[in-house]
Amino acid sequence: MHPEILPSYFIGDARVDSTLRRLYADALRVDPVARAAATGRGLDEGAPAFYGAMKDAYMPVTPDLGMLLYALARATAAREAVEFGTSFGISAIWLAAALRENGGRLVTAELDDAKARRAALNLAEAGLADRVEIRTGPAQQTLAAGLPDTLDLVFLDGAKSLYLPVLQLVEPRLRRGALIVADNTDMPDARPFLDYTTRAASGYRAAALTTEALGARHPCRLLVRTG
Ligand SMILES: C[S@@+](CC[C@H](N)C(=O)[O-])C[C@H]1O[C@@H](n2cnc3c(N)ncnc32)[C@H](O)[C@@H]1O
Repeated sequence: MHPEILPSYFIGDARVDSTLRRLYADALRVDPVARAAATGRGLDEGAPAFYGAMKDAYMPVTPDLGMLLYALARATAAREAVEFGTSFGISAIWLAAALRENGGRLVTAELDDAKARRAALNLAEAGLADRVEIRTGPAQQTLAAGLPDTLDLVFLDGAKSLYLPVLQLVEPRLRRGALIVADNTDMPDARPFLDYTTRAASGYRAAALTTEALGARHPCRLLVRTG
């Protein structure tokens, strides 16, 4: 995914597409440098300390995973969605663009205040600010209250060790048939989440999926709430 091979359009909305193109092009410039610095310090990718070292990095969903989020939200007519891990707002833009079509909205949680402020600007640039509430601070706290009674879709993309606690926080609100997408589930810290959601009596059914970008593979999970 080099800037010159980014698609000329994503969803066909001029403001959404131009914002996504600008953000992905910037991520291609910024992220490799930040990642090399963080891993050079011996930090494990996906662990809580890693994100402190990645304050300038996007770490975005691949365009294919973004499109999958968009398609899932459109296909299920999702109206109420929650995201863990906003970063600069790329996945929030994909989700909010779909939710807007359904008359819905997104609550998204970001630990870092500067990132949350830039995400707000990016969502405004995409014309989606009125569809998204950004909650700044640890998601374990900011998502503990004040969510819609019923959730249709949850996207997990923050610190991997928190996937399970955050899922358990929102679990009572998941409607039967709700979708959960969890990115980077190959990382060791995501293991408790995988163990919990793949038990026979878990109340979830899960598919492992992989998208690719720049030749790298990005495993994720798609779950449906069955229980
Ligand atoms: C992989 S990035 C998210 C990328 C974003 N979903 C996208 O596709 O553009 C992970 C983000 O989670 C945030 N994060 C990590 N731990 C968090 C926590 N406890 N609460 C809220 N956000 C957290 C990090 O600051 C980082 O911005």
